[in-house]
Amino acid sequence: MPIASFSSFTDGLDREQRSREHFITNINLENDRLWVPYADGVWFQPCHFNVTSGGFSVVLKGLPGSRVGTHYHVGTVHGYTMRGYWRYLEHDWVAKPGTFIYEPAGEAHTLVISEDSPEPMVTLFIVGGGLIYLDKAVDGRFAAYEDGFSLLELCRKHYKQAGLDVRQLDQLVR
Ligand SMILES: [Fe+2]
Repeated sequence: MPIASFSSFTDGLDREQRSREHFITNINLENDRLWVPYADGVWFQPCHFNVTSGGFSVVLKGLPGSRVGTHYHVGTVHGYTMRGYWRYLEHDWVAKPGTFIYEPAGEAHTLVISEDSPEPMVTLFIVGGGLIYLDKAVDGRFAAYEDGFSLLELCRKHYKQAGLDVRQLDQLVR
């Protein structure tokens, strides 16, 4: 959940819990309980919370016609589209299954899942740092902030509510 007020935040783990080892996580696209609600018609499953850069990696799912509001990235984004069609209102390309995208830092954009997408969009996003939600698409001002920490908090809340094992999320913190 994007935040609009700030104080210091940690991953909540003790030193000895914070592993530097490899990990793998298996995203289950078909298990509805694992999808964390994010916006109207938009959900995600977390892959990695990067407590070093403040970034994160997620698989994002969105229904045709849904959107993620205009936001500005302070770091890079890499994306790989697995299902469905989507685009940014600020660009003229359309991402389809197989489309890889690299986005330099410093970009503001509005993600929309195409109305004519034949199925829900599913895309892996690797986000290098935090992002700032804006109150309007052009010359927008600060509305809310999101990063790996705020998403970790949101996921923990969802896992508790859904009766899922919250400790699973600790494994995704590096
Ligand atoms: Fe973005």
